[in-house]
Formats: sequence, C-alpha cells, structure tokens
Amino acid sequence: MIRLASVFCLLLCLNSCKTHPVEVSKPTFGLIANKAMVVSARAEASRIGVAILKKGGNAFDAMMATEMALAVSYPFAGNLGGGGFMVYRMADGTVGALDYREKAPKAAFKNMYLDASGEVQPEKSQLGALAVGVPGTVAGIFEAHKKFGTLPIQDILSPVIHLAQKGYVVTEKQQRRFTNYRELFLTVNKDTIPYAKDIIAGDTIKNIALATTLQALIDKGRDGFYKGAVAEKLVNHLQENGGILTLDDLASYKAVWRKPVQFTYKDLTVISMSPPSSGGTCLAQIMKMIEPYDIKQYGHNQEKTIQLLTEAERRAYADRSYYLGDPDFVTIPLDTLISATYLGKRMQNFNFERATPSVEVSHGKLPGYESDETTHYSIVDQFGNTISVTTTLNGAYGSKLYNIELGFFLNNEMDDFSSKPGVPNMFGLIGAEANAIAPEKRMLSSMTPTIVEKNNKLWMSVGTPGGSTIITSVLQTILNVSEFDMTMQDAVNAPRFHHQWLPDVVIFEPNAFDQELLKNLKNKGYTIDQQESQIIGKVDGILVREDGTLEGGADKRGDDTAMGF
Ligand code: GLY
Repeated sequence: MIRLASVFCLLLCLNSCKTHPVEVSKPTFGLIANKAMVVSARAEASRIGVAILKKGGNAFDAMMATEMALAVSYPFAGNLGGGGFMVYRMADGTVGALDYREKAPKAAFKNMYLDASGEVQPEKSQLGALAVGVPGTVAGIFEAHKKFGTLPIQDILSPVIHLAQKGYVVTEKQQRRFTNYRELFLTVNKDTIPYAKDIIAGDTIKNIALATTLQALIDKGRDGFYKGAVAEKLVNHLQENGGILTLDDLASYKAVWRKPVQFTYKDLTVISMSPPSSGGTCLAQIMKMIEPYDIKQYGHNQEKTIQLLTEAERRAYADRSYYLGDPDFVTIPLDTLISATYLGKRMQNFNFERATPSVEVSHGKLPGYESDETTHYSIVDQFGNTISVTTTLNGAYGSKLYNIELGFFLNNEMDDFSSKPGVPNMFGLIGAEANAIAPEKRMLSSMTPTIVEKNNKLWMSVGTPGGSTIITSVLQTILNVSEFDMTMQDAVNAPRFHHQWLPDVVIFEPNAFDQELLKNLKNKGYTIDQQESQIIGKVDGILVREDGTLEGGADKRGDDTAMGF
C-alpha cells in the first residue's frame, strides 16, 4: 500500500525537517467502509443519511435527509433558513453543480447598510431581520431530488421528523456555543427562544415546531416552504422585526444548476463550485500557481510550503475581491483567471527571500477585460454517485433571528455582499463593485464543496465551513493526501494556516507550528497571528482508497462523524 501515511510522508520532508523536526506519529485512519458513506457535522445526520442509503436511496435522497437532519441537530449552521451549494459526480463520471445560495430581496439596494454619512453599519447586515437573504435550502434539496432522487419524500423526511420529535442530545461543544451566543439571541429576538435557555451538555432538545414545518414539505413539496402558511408566518415575522423580505421574494426563488469549475493539478482533476461562490475559482488559481513547485520536497507545513501557499493565496484573494460576484449579474473572466499563462505571470514577483506585502499586490490585469460558520457534508453512495455539499446560515446561528412558530434560525447572508467597496465584511473580506448589493442578486461566497478525480476515477469528496478560510482549508486537505501521503483522517486533523491578501497576516492554529519556523517567517516579512481560540475550518471528506474501500475523514475539531457500510 503506497499510502502508508504520515509516518512515511515525513520521510519526504527530510530536507526541511533538518531545521524544523516534526513529531513522527502513526497514521490515524478514519472509518473504513466498503460501499457507501456519509460524513457530516453530527452523528444524527450521518446516521439518518446512511439509513436512507441502506434503504436503497441514492446520494441525492441522502442529501435531503442529511441536510434536514443537520437543521434539526446542528442549528449552528444546519438550516432551512439559509442556502448552499452542491457539487456532484455521477457513477458514469458526469459532473455538475447546484446553486441554492440565498438572494437579496427585491427591495434590497446598494447602500442599504450605510448610514447618512456613508459609513457601513455592520450590525444591520449581521444581526436581525434586515440581514436575511431569501433562503435557498429547501429549493435546493427539492431541485436535487427532482433531477436525481429515487425515494418518495415521505420516506426521506419521516426519520428527520422523528428526530425533531424525539430530540437530540447536546454535546459539550454545542453547550459552549449556545452559551456564547445566548446574549445575542436575547438581543435580537423579541420573545425568548428555546435556544436562549440555559442548555447544558446531555440535555435533550426537541423541536416540535420544526417537525411541523418538515411535515409541510412532505405534504406540499417545496411550495410547503415558499408559499402558503409557512411562507406567510416567515414573512410576517421578518417584517415585524424590520425585514424587507416579501411573499413574492419567496415565491420567485429558484435554485440554479451551474457548470462547476474544473481543472487539473498534476495527476488530479478537481471539480469545485463555480460563482456565485469564489471557492472553486480561488482553489483553481492557488493550485495552478503552486503546481510548478516541488511542494512534496519542501514538506508538510514547512517554511517554503507555507510561503508558497501564502503567496498564491494572497494573489488569488486579491483577484477574488475584484472580479468575482453573481454570474447572473456580472461578467466573470473565469477561463482567463484560472489559465496557467495568467497565473504564471501572477507569481512572477514571488521569491522565497521575502514576503510580498499585500499593498504591493492588487488584482491582476487581464488582457481584454475592462472591467465560521457553515457546515459541510460529503456522501458517496453504493451506486458510485458522489456529492459534496456546503450549506450555511453565514454567521453562527445566522442573523440570530429565530422563528419560534417554524423552528429555525434565519441567515445573515446579506453580510457576504460588499456593503461598501474597500470595507471588510465579518470575515475581513474586501469587496468591489462585482459584489455590490442589487435586488435578487446572489452574494459572493467562499464555500468550496469539491470532488477530486485521479485517473478519471473518483478519489475524494471534501469541504468545510469557515468563511474565508474555507478555500485554504480545502486546499491544504487535498495537498495533505496528494502531496504528503496522509490518510483522510490525518489530512483533516492536520494543523492549518490561512492567508487572504487583506488583512496582510497569516493565521496559524495555535500551538501547532514550530516556533522557530514562525520566527523565520516573521524575519522574511510575514505577520503571524496565532490567536488562542483560532480554529481554521472543520473539514469533512471521503477518500476512495486504492483497494476501492472508502475512508472517512471527520474533523476532530467538531462533533463530526463518519458512518458507512
Ligand atoms: N457565508 C459564508 C460563505 O458563503 O462563504
């Protein structure tokens, strides 16, 4: 077996390890399964997804079940009130992508978050009803099911309703999160919501209101959410709280099939999310910029590797902020942005002697062109179909606005627009005109649900939450397996770092990187940030091993769980 994993991968970095030794450890394998697997942020959601597969359903049936089970058991990011993206690869190798990203309400306008003096009021795009974009999740799961699903909706959603009625058990990590956000729940909501109570690990949380909302989906399909009683309750609640979303916004929402971004990296073919996510485009830019370098020889998390990735990320995020937005509203020069010629030029001013300050990096000039809190799951079914799905409310518990009658939180996705060019959003991302607010426009995302092929065969399904750090976490996970021969589990557990052009800092997970290495980077002009609580991404993935079995990688940073058979 070639993948003898991290013990042996360390041999590959002997050169750089001479100066920065890395502890040699045995490889950790995630769950191994023969035929099918679901990896998600909660055991309940993975279990329900696998049960649907065992019943004979396919990955798209399991998608609906897993997504809704996350809405019940992981309200931090699982949702009916948010949106997401799905990338798929069928057993015959055909690929595609589904965009169920939220949209700006029809009454939205460019300067809606600026005060009289033109200053951004971030709380308006981050907290409460005005922050809410038109939710896309229910449209997404029904659109995927309409095209590819095989089981009746009732069979798929009944176990989820049962979970909502029976309740889920709160984990330690969940307790900490509920406690952290309690004050904001109380500030944003007029009535005390169930999640603002004193919740401790081991408590069982039932959600009867959500069970009733899910029953409306069984009875009426997607219209059970976008029209009728649920839609009316949702719009009344939003408008009572100062929102601008209307029944017409809900009724006219549609999920859209997109062509995914597809590119090669050495012997891999990467299929990832296209705009309105920046994920696939940035991932392609970074991987094409680093492709000519011998990163395997530099070693995992070693100085030259960190420099190379940081510099490629700097240039990709600078382009992101200028060129990317909703493709239904702006023209994106995608082919040029990910072409080897253009990216080769972008790296011309890079060298290993010193950092390129971000002030010296702007978006690239294109010839002829004028112009932490999300959740991911991966599914491979027993028929050979694969999906990679990232779904979000944007911030933790979204806008914190909770509809007690319907049983779910609403997103604050409007903050992913650029409220004012040059002013950072909650992830510190700077935007330009391409991502300005407009009625019915989709806000730019960083979500990067990704599928990777090797020798034209399925090799990996991977993704993560983490706002702007999503792209760099997916990147490092793919490289950890492809360049550094790690197992899937080791690849998701490995310490990560992140850079995004502005602010001009490189963030590192704390206590995980060699201090001398960080000192050397500082000496070369890199600003290092190792905040105590910094977690970069929470990656879930599935790897197809050489013998055809599947290995799950469920990130140790969360309660993430792989299940399969
Ligand atoms: N709301 C996070 C993202 O879409 O990137």
